[in-house]
Amino acid sequence: MTVHVPILTAAEIEKMRIAGKLAADVLDMIGPHVVPGVTTLELDNIMHDYIVNTQEAIPACLNYQGYPKNTCISVNEEVCHGIPGAKHLHKGDIVNIDVTVIKDDFYGDTSRMYIVGGETSPRNRRLCEVTQECLYEAIKAIKPGVDLTVVGDIIQPIAEKNSFSVVRDYCGHGVGREFHQEPEVLHFRNRNHFILEAGMTFTIEPMINAGTWKCRVNKHNGWTVTTQDGQPSAQYEHTLLVTEDGVEILTYRSEEEGHIDRIIHHA
Ligand code: MF3
Ligand code: CO
Ligand code: CO
Repeated sequence: MTVHVPILTAAEIEKMRIAGKLAADVLDMIGPHVVPGVTTLELDNIMHDYIVNTQEAIPACLNYQGYPKNTCISVNEEVCHGIPGAKHLHKGDIVNIDVTVIKDDFYGDTSRMYIVGGETSPRNRRLCEVTQECLYEAIKAIKPGVDLTVVGDIIQPIAEKNSFSVVRDYCGHGVGREFHQEPEVLHFRNRNHFILEAGMTFTIEPMINAGTWKCRVNKHNGWTVTTQDGQPSAQYEHTLLVTEDGVEILTYRSEEEGHIDRIIHHA
């Protein structure tokens, strides 16, 4: 079983930087719109216009394997692939917005949590914080020569120490000229051994549940994933580049300064 992962050229890496920055900019742009009363369809429309008209890029999700909207917006017990629609957001909801753009043939893929109205339960807030910590701690371990199993080795104990659980049915992925390519990036302990090399690009995107890790897919729309027990779920995602001495976060937002560096060097 051979896993094929492209090593990007300097020119390709530059295109990935641009695509990643655009995806990150969408998450920054939409933040002020994520307020009580707005519908997820309104948010999707705003992001569509911004991606297409301002960024002159392509919303990668639209028509991807039949997906009907531009972005994924997953609220509370929705784990991922929430389809934007007539649902109104309420104060205290925790919302993941996942944006993927294509620019100049390359994909940038990223997501973050928003707390509607700025306040939620302590448990919801903790779930969001721990999920971001899971992503950040895994990112900090990335450099050439490291086995990708490090991602699950780091994330699962952080989640479980907080009595949360790691979703097993969905994973991170190689990303570049394609939306989803090898390698598969599992967020729980696993034996999917794969040694990273400089020039590879992939996502880490842990989904962490407050209760059981078990999920179900909405049988009416075929997409939206919810927790089996109805408890909330959180997710953060970055697109990453393995550098000569560490990792670069291609979908970095300036708001993250002080929490994690955009470029991490290991001696
Ligand atoms: N952006 C998601 C990911 O992180 C994929 C969404 S596919 C869609 O991999 F079709 F649901 F949009
Ligand atoms: Co992804
Ligand atoms: Co994504």
